[in-house]
Amino acid sequence: MKAFNFNQWSQTHLATIEMALDDAVPAYAPAGLGDAMRYAVLDGGKRLRPLLVLASMEASAAGQQVAWMEDAAMRAACAVELIHAYSLVHDDMPCMDNDVLRRGKPTVHVKFGQAQALLAGDALQSLAFECLTPDDSDIPDAVQTKLCALLARGAGHAGMAGGQAIDLASVGVALDAEALRHMHRCKTGALLETSVLMGAVSGDASSRAYQALQSFAQALGLAFQVVDDILDVTADSAVLGKTSGKDAADNKPTYVSLLGLAGARQEAKALADQAQAALIKSALPNTQALRALTDWVLHRQH
Ligand code: IPE
Ligand code: IPE
Ligand code: MG
Ligand code: MG
Ligand code: MG
Repeated sequence: MKAFNFNQWSQTHLATIEMALDDAVPAYAPAGLGDAMRYAVLDGGKRLRPLLVLASMEASAAGQQVAWMEDAAMRAACAVELIHAYSLVHDDMPCMDNDVLRRGKPTVHVKFGQAQALLAGDALQSLAFECLTPDDSDIPDAVQTKLCALLARGAGHAGMAGGQAIDLASVGVALDAEALRHMHRCKTGALLETSVLMGAVSGDASSRAYQALQSFAQALGLAFQVVDDILDVTADSAVLGKTSGKDAADNKPTYVSLLGLAGARQEAKALADQAQAALIKSALPNTQALRALTDWVLHRQH
């Protein structure tokens, strides 16, 4: 069997994802809205969520991949990235984190104004669901419905939006470990879990595989935000592409404020180990990409 080459795997998929996103986001929308939407989505971003969708589809299909699965996974990959991009646009606005730098560029509201940023976020959210429900495709209706339901849940009050509400309500509050975990699971973990589950649905996963991938995704999702908290303290703005040191300056509870830097690093490692263990337990044959993405989440520098 040929050794798995993650670099090659991710480069190939990243190129396809960029093209699909470029196709998905309109160049024209009234009164310059299209410009703000494209600015928010294209030209930047690690695209972790889309890569997770594709890797999870490949693991779930277990060598039985057919054309509609690839179409569903690419649509889901774009849809979750559009929701993520919208969440970043709103997260950066003055009423939330008030950030001026994102993906190495001025934030959307700095460049286009607050009203246009608000609307670009709104429109990206709608566009995500359009992506999942094409007029003409071989993706079974039941799969399209399930993908919409998963994304709606991950983005909504019990997922990302709810977590963001907790985040804003927790400024200056010393959350305990359980409350902090809940906030991180909602605001960030939910969309990462959604990415993996949409991949599982696209790859027609068995219910056993689906459950194993869900356990994997929950650990990975939390690990991702613990590392985000660490990088806010340890990385430079130039490398991060966003302003570092912002969490402490804004008095936000984070894994670093709760456990210290060494404790947060230990926690991230333990969660990544937990994610890897869930993959081993799944006994799925094609999990090399998911394993490599987990390593990347733990060791990333931005
Ligand atoms: C940043 O996410 C926001 C969080 C949920 C922590 P990413 O680190 O994935 O941001 P991009 O997409 O690469 O810019
Ligand atoms: C944001 O968390 C999570 C989102 C839902 C966008 P952060 O506020 O920590 O994300 P960054 O650090 O600004 O990317
Ligand atoms: Mg925030
Ligand atoms: Mg922020
Ligand atoms: Mg952060």
